[in-house]
Amino acid sequence: MTDEAHSHWQPLLAAARSAMKNAHAPYSNFRVGSALRTTSGQIFAGCNVENASYGMTNCAERTAIFSAVAQLGSAMEIAEIAVVCEQNVPCAPCGACRQVIYEFGPMAAVYFQGPKGWISMPIKDLLPEGFRLK
Ligand code: THU
Repeated sequence: MTDEAHSHWQPLLAAARSAMKNAHAPYSNFRVGSALRTTSGQIFAGCNVENASYGMTNCAERTAIFSAVAQLGSAMEIAEIAVVCEQNVPCAPCGACRQVIYEFGPMAAVYFQGPKGWISMPIKDLLPEGFRLK
C-alpha cells in the first residue's frame, strides 16, 4: 500500500485510539479500539468491553458498529472500518466481528495491523461466503 493510501486511514486510526482509552479490559489487559466511516461520511468509534462472565465480552468493532446503528438506524452502511490495539501487535478482526461487519458493510474495507504491517482488505476477502438471510 502507498503512503498516501495509508494516510487516508489516519482520521479513523485517531478516533479508534481515542476510543481505546475507554476500553474495559481488566481480564485480558488487551485494549482495543475501532472506528468506522459510514457511506454517508460519519465516523463512529468503539472499544472492547469485557465482563467477569468472559463470554459476554463485546469487541471494539462491534461496539463501534452497534453505536452507529443506534444513532443512524439499520440502513447505516459501513464504508471503512479500522482496528487498533494498545500493544501495537497484529490484531485482525475476530470471526464474529467479520460477520457483523459484513452485515452492515458488504463492500467495506478493513484496516488493521497484520503480521507484516498495516493492511487494508475488503471484508469479502476476510470473510468469504459471509452469511446473509437472502
Ligand atoms: N478484541 C477486540 O476487541 N477486537 C478484536 O479484533 C480482537 C479481540 C478484544 C476482545 C477481548 O476483550 C480482548 O480483545 C482479548 O481477546
